[in-house]
Amino acid sequence: MTDPVGAGDARLRLEAAERTYGAGEHAVRALGPVDLEVAPGEFVAIMGPSGSGKSTLLALAGALDRPTAGRVFVRGRDLGQLAPRELAALRRRAIGFVFQDFNLLPGLTAVENVALPLELDGVSLRAAREEARAGLERVGLAALAARFPDDLSGGERQRVAIARAFVGPRDLLLADEPTGALDTVTGELVMRELRAQCDRGRTAVLVTHDASHAAWADRVLYLRDGLLVDDVPAAGGALPPILPGPAGAGAGRGGRRGGGRRGGGR
Ligand SMILES: Nc1ncnc2c1ncn2[C@@H]1O[C@H](COP(=O)(O)OP(=O)(O)OP(=O)(O)O)[C@@H](O)[C@H]1O
Ligand SMILES: [Mg+2]
Repeated sequence: MTDPVGAGDARLRLEAAERTYGAGEHAVRALGPVDLEVAPGEFVAIMGPSGSGKSTLLALAGALDRPTAGRVFVRGRDLGQLAPRELAALRRRAIGFVFQDFNLLPGLTAVENVALPLELDGVSLRAAREEARAGLERVGLAALAARFPDDLSGGERQRVAIARAFVGPRDLLLADEPTGALDTVTGELVMRELRAQCDRGRTAVLVTHDASHAAWADRVLYLRDGLLVDDVPAAGGALPPILPGPAGAGAGRGGRRGGGRRGGGR
């Protein structure tokens, strides 16, 4: 499959994307038109009031929903041009979701949950488990790999969901208020992991109501009534002076600070 002309190198791109519910006089435009480009290695936060279209935007970006007008590209591929099977494969291989309830399967252990997308994709059981274990190790959960979700805390479950979202070749993480129910320390730990993953070249789009979490991103997009009303550079994990920082925060990222201005979708 060839990449459409103009899709560029963006990992995620929305072109005049709209989502309208209902028809005729009952039609409600939940989103758009929105133009947006997110580059490899970028960490983007989305903020905005309730009902402004944040979850709708993520659903379009993750191919969970289709735009009623406009186009959505992931890794340069026009989602509207993909057959259902190709779309399912792209979702499995390229995109990781983290929702508020984490969506872990209760009958599988932590490591089995993380390995599942790889196994579904035909990776051998052993290789999948090995990679899943490495992912859990990165989020500090190596010792809990054999636990079932019910025996993990909320923060631990969330870290399992993040390990799963980035397992294998997946490089676009879409997170919808994943820190909603978590304490400050765990929430920050999760932000640090997202930041680290993006510094390794992965891409994250995070919906959040928490400005201190958005501060870990490269840029913050503001939605209102379904439209992008602002797109501003963020601190990119450089910590505000009053908070104790993660060891080495900001180290090695100086060269990418300008990344916040890439894309400039508005
Ligand atoms: N299935 C649907 N049918 C009709 N309208 C819908 C549907 N889903 C969402 N909407 C409307 O679309 C708009 C955007 O919803 P969306 O869920 O994207 O908001 P949000 O920014 O994620 O809000 P929140 O912060 O409360 O999660 C809202 O006005 C909502 O009522
Ligand atoms: Mg929402």
